[in-house]
Amino acid sequence: MENRPCVFISRTIPAEALALIEAECEVVVWDHDTQPPREKVLAEVSQADGVLSMLTEKIDEEVIAAATKLRVISNFAVGYDNIDVDAATERGIPVGNTPGILTETTADHAFMLLAAAARRLPESMEYVKQGKWQTWNPTTLLGQDIHGATLGIIGLGRIGHAVAKRAQGFGMRILYHGGSNPQYADETGAQSVDLETLLRESDFVTLHVPLTDETRHLIGKDEFALMKDSAILINTARGGVVDTDALVDALKNGVIGGAALDVTDPEPISPNHPLLQLPNCIVAPHTASATQATRAKMADMAAKNLLAGLRGERLPHCVNPEVYEGRS
Ligand code: DGY
Repeated sequence: MENRPCVFISRTIPAEALALIEAECEVVVWDHDTQPPREKVLAEVSQADGVLSMLTEKIDEEVIAAATKLRVISNFAVGYDNIDVDAATERGIPVGNTPGILTETTADHAFMLLAAAARRLPESMEYVKQGKWQTWNPTTLLGQDIHGATLGIIGLGRIGHAVAKRAQGFGMRILYHGGSNPQYADETGAQSVDLETLLRESDFVTLHVPLTDETRHLIGKDEFALMKDSAILINTARGGVVDTDALVDALKNGVIGGAALDVTDPEPISPNHPLLQLPNCIVAPHTASATQATRAKMADMAAKNLLAGLRGERLPHCVNPEVYEGRS
């Protein structure tokens, strides 16, 4: 059909959202469980008016330069560290993301990881599966209390706030560092402290910052050294916020008590990665937003961002609104 924009979607997305896009566009979907090879991304974007990308696709300067017709980038994620937003802005290309709708689902997952690590759930299950459960024993598989413990939230933004609400229900003392909405702290009784105090005093430290030049390796050897030797680190933000080698050392040498990670660096990690050999480390495959309802909402929002960009309308959720400056 004539004049229908061409769109590249870098993974299979929920059917309703795909149907919305197909109603207006010629669509190429990378319909595989693996990531599209870089050459495929370069080849497809060079033909595309719009791209709907996953967080695994590097939409960097080279890709943006190859995408000579591109009018919109819609990321299927709230985070957009996979996109060179400056390069897109320079070309006047709006970049969309999916904020808000995955907040509560991600907070559920962060709190689930916290509880699973505190109460040693994966180890307990292995114990049962391996037939080691012979009797009730007062000293077996002892974990840590969550109620009454101190939770340190690094980044009291939308998701950090949703985690704080859950922590309130568990009667936790809540500290936070970073985040600019005073209402979030007022509502949850979270107390603002410097990073060092948060690391020293928290039983659980949970990360909710985007990955930027400033936050890369925010938590490394020096930060682990400040933490309690029983402390548990929870990461549902981005793997790169933590120095992985330092984390492995800290977990191996009892510098901290444990870690529960939804994100890793690199990602994915191989099954024989040192982190996966440690009993005090839980790893989930970046599934914090993975519920049927939330993924459907993310797909819908990403589709609507994409279609708005192709129609020349303002994206409902745009991370570089400066592209609209001076446009009528
Ligand atoms: C995001 O949206 O940035 C999450 O990491 C994926 O759920």
